[in-house]
Amino acid sequence: MGNPLNSHNQLTYSQKESTTSAFRFSNSEESVLRPPPDPNGPKNMAVFHSNFLVIGSGVAGLTCALKAADYGTVNLVTKKEEFESNTNYAQGGIAAVLDPLDCFNSHVEDTLKAGAGLCHEDTVRVAVENGPKVIDELNKWGTSFTHDHGSESLELGREGGHSHRRIVHAKDLTGREVERALLEQLHRHEKTRIFRHAMAIDLIVSETPEPRCWGCIVWDDTWDELHFFTAGVTILATGGLGQIYLHTTNPSIAAGDGVAMAYRQGVPVANMEFIQFHPTAFFWPGERPFLISEAVRGEGGILRTSDGEAFMEDHHELKDLAPRDIVARAVDAEMKKRGDPNVLLDVRHIPQQEFARRFPNITQHCRDHHLDLSRDMIPVVPAAHYSCGGILTGLWGETALKGLFAAGEVACTGLHGANRLASNSILEAVVFGERSVEFARREGLHQESHPDNIINSVRVQPKRDLEKVRISHCRDELRRLMWDYVGIVRSEDRLKRARERLTTLRQEVTDYIEAGYTRGDLFDLRNMVEVSELVVACALTRKESRGLHYILEYPNTDDEHWKKDTIVKRDQREAPLLPGTAR
Ligand code: FAD
Ligand code: SIN
Repeated sequence: MGNPLNSHNQLTYSQKESTTSAFRFSNSEESVLRPPPDPNGPKNMAVFHSNFLVIGSGVAGLTCALKAADYGTVNLVTKKEEFESNTNYAQGGIAAVLDPLDCFNSHVEDTLKAGAGLCHEDTVRVAVENGPKVIDELNKWGTSFTHDHGSESLELGREGGHSHRRIVHAKDLTGREVERALLEQLHRHEKTRIFRHAMAIDLIVSETPEPRCWGCIVWDDTWDELHFFTAGVTILATGGLGQIYLHTTNPSIAAGDGVAMAYRQGVPVANMEFIQFHPTAFFWPGERPFLISEAVRGEGGILRTSDGEAFMEDHHELKDLAPRDIVARAVDAEMKKRGDPNVLLDVRHIPQQEFARRFPNITQHCRDHHLDLSRDMIPVVPAAHYSCGGILTGLWGETALKGLFAAGEVACTGLHGANRLASNSILEAVVFGERSVEFARREGLHQESHPDNIINSVRVQPKRDLEKVRISHCRDELRRLMWDYVGIVRSEDRLKRARERLTTLRQEVTDYIEAGYTRGDLFDLRNMVEVSELVVACALTRKESRGLHYILEYPNTDDEHWKKDTIVKRDQREAPLLPGTAR
């Protein structure tokens, strides 16, 4: 039998029906949702095929989809609404060498310095040298960046660890503006379809003649259905994992899904111990952390203790603009020393009109909390912000599994090493997203067809009656555990205890999965447990302190033994999850 799945979006039901399928397509009119024939009965899994499958709609996923649309059909699946992503909350901006007094070597050096000896210099050069092109491209795609007063040139901000002004921004809402522009472009493309509330849960991999990825299994969170998404090229652009920590600047989508999915298929993952904590998240008990951009310190903001003392000069010569790991540890130490729940960020000396022009979003957030920034200081605490580690990729976004690419925060390209320099990640997402598509196209991977036998006709019987509290309890426990035991300052004893508790949590999740329960939050939790285990495993492996990884038993950096990536890999691939199936 020939492969029936080679044309774009060929479904097990007809193309006409596909516009009324249970998925919410965001580039058709509004979704008309088809109720499943029998909400409680078994359903056939549909198959959606395209040349490229992009998983995630942050800056990495959208860039990949836009580029890939030039070469073939594209399906993009995204977990929630299409704009919901870490990208959407990015404030500071995008690092690029645009000032005539700045140069590539300086940006490279700053990146290497922040990365504490673990950056891959070739990757750094590729990213940095593509910076101006990225800004130009985002501009052409319609991103509206902030310009210098009345001038043609872009306003360049300053952030910690950068020795020049080089942060291109759209006021303090850079990510939202980039996301808006790219989504608008993508909606115009006929060859791309965006599937919202579509959560990738496992990769589809064939074994012979060599392991190769052919797409993924997707959970439709609206109608509780599972579907196959097949493609010659699969790009993981699922972002970060901040949700494994109790306090994080990341939205709820950031559960480490891509890393967990790749790891389960034996793809090497690297440097998971290097979790970046942003030093200044707005502190308001009971509220989700809101970021106070590092650019605020770039414009003169000063960190102070509760008794008004500026403390960064005791910790680093660059004071408030020291690299982020140093500032976060200093804040943590000052809070612990005094038993204070937060420190304070002082912007009272910055002309208020100018501050409000540059940071309208932050100003509004403070006003909403009745803070008058000419009089009051901003209460801030550190929060988990960014994962420097991820799926190990080469210079073209390629992973060790043929047909699978990773771009953006989910990837470990070697750019960030042991600590990411501020505003280098949107840059990385665009540069390596584009290169992934370019590599796949050059190799013709998008035109290859999967073997007939990897997709069987499968009927799924959703099993939903698991009490929600079972999942929410495990999730809360995990997030507190990671915050308390695997946080900014670590110890071997706490890490080992965290490892034990994670084993118990894993068992509980496995029990529910094996019992056939199908729930989006359960699939999320499965990934959160898996990536937490990877963070702990890498942290226990590295017997030194370096960059973002600080461990009490080994407070020094040990270049002789540890100037290398921590790479973890599963020996055996795990069969993709098809809960509640009958063949
Ligand atoms: P994301 O933007 O997080 O997108 C991930 C996408 O994958 C989402 O659409 C999500 O729904 C989807 N997804 C996840 N799992 C699945 C799944 N299983 N199935 C389907 N879809 C899935 N960096 C900078 O360079 N400059 C900044 O100024 C800056 N500020 C920041 C401010 C904040 C508050 C935060 C949180 C981060 C900031 N960063 C900044 C970091 C940067 O925003 C992110 O690293 C970058 O945007 C990540 O882009 P991404 O496309 O890789 O992931
Ligand atoms: C910020 O605006 O402080 C965040 C910048 C970043 O995470 O790169």
